[in-house]
Amino acid sequence: MNYPRTLQWRGDAADGKLVIIDQTRLPGDLVYLDLERLEQVIDAIQRLAVRGAPAIGVAGAYGCVLALREGRGEAGLELLAQARPTAVNLRWAVERVWKEAKSDASRALEAAKRINAEDVAACEAIGRHGAQLIRPGMGVHTHCNAGALATSGMGTALAPMYVAHGNGVKFRVFADETRPLLQGARLTAWELAQAGIDVTVIGDDMAAIVLREKKTQLVITGADRIARNGDTANKVGTYALALAARAHGAPFYIAAPKSTFDTAARNGADVPIEERKESELREWQGALLTPHGARVFNPAFDVTPAELISGYITEDGILSAAEITGWLG
Ligand code: MRU
Repeated sequence: MNYPRTLQWRGDAADGKLVIIDQTRLPGDLVYLDLERLEQVIDAIQRLAVRGAPAIGVAGAYGCVLALREGRGEAGLELLAQARPTAVNLRWAVERVWKEAKSDASRALEAAKRINAEDVAACEAIGRHGAQLIRPGMGVHTHCNAGALATSGMGTALAPMYVAHGNGVKFRVFADETRPLLQGARLTAWELAQAGIDVTVIGDDMAAIVLREKKTQLVITGADRIARNGDTANKVGTYALALAARAHGAPFYIAAPKSTFDTAARNGADVPIEERKESELREWQGALLTPHGARVFNPAFDVTPAELISGYITEDGILSAAEITGWLG
C-alpha cells in the first residue's frame, strides 16, 4: 500500500538514530530529520515535527534509547513522557520501555522495535476491520490527521480508507482542515492524494453543511486518549463534528489501537487537555491575525462523550463503549 513511512530507527543502540518526516514542512517539502539526542526528540514532539498519538508513542520509545545511551536514566525518560500530555501512547510507550529494559540501551532498542512492530500490525488490523464500514459511493468524513503520518504504520482513522481503496471500493473523503495547525488540510489531504484516494478539504465550520447535504454519511476519526467509559479525547473540533454527525444521522466511529485506551481514566474528566501557545492562533507565518487586545484560548484537544460514538475500531474488531472495560481487562 502506498503510504508514507513517518519514522524509522537506523543503526544500533550505541550509534543509531531516529529518522522522521518533518511534518511541519508538509505539504510543501518532504524533509527528513535525524534525531540523535533526547532533546531533539522532545523538541520534535513538542513542535509537532512528529505528531499523532501512536507516532509519538513510537518516537518516544526510540527516544528512550537515546536517553539511556546518554546516561539520562529514569529522569530523562520522565522528561520525554511529559513532552505532550494528552496522547496516552507517549507515557505508555516510555513506561513500557523502562519496565522491559531498565537502563540498558540495547534492550530498550529491542523493546522500541517491538512497540513499533505492534503499532504497524494494529494499524493493519484496524484497516481490515474498519474497511467493512466503507460502502461504494460513500462520502467519509475525517478530522485532523490520523493517517500514516500519525502512526508508524498505515494510520488509524485512515487505515480503513487505505484498505477499502486497495480493495477497489470507490468512495470520497472529506477532510476538515483542522484549525489552527491544519493537520487535515496539510497532512491528511497530502497522504490521501499521494495514495490516489479522492479527497476534498473543507473548513472546519463547513462540516455541518456537508453532513446535512449527505455529502458524507460516515465519520471516522482517531483518538489521543480513550477513557474506560468510551469518552474520547481527540483533536479539538472532533466534539463539534460528532454533534453534527448525530444531528444528521451519520454514524461516528473512533479508530484507535489498545495503546490509546487509558485504563486509569474513568471518563473524559480524567484526561489532561494540552493548551498550546497563543501564537498558533494569533499569527500565520509571522502575520498577525488577531489584535493585541484580544485574548486567545487554544486547547489542542476536546472530549467527545461516549454517547455520541457509534463504535471503536480497534485491532481486535469494532467495539461498543460497553465492551471496552472487559476488553481492556
Ligand atoms: O496535535 P496532533 O496533531 O498530535 O493531534 C493528533 C490527533 O488528534 C489525532 O487525531 C490522534 O492523535 C490520532 S492519530 C492516529
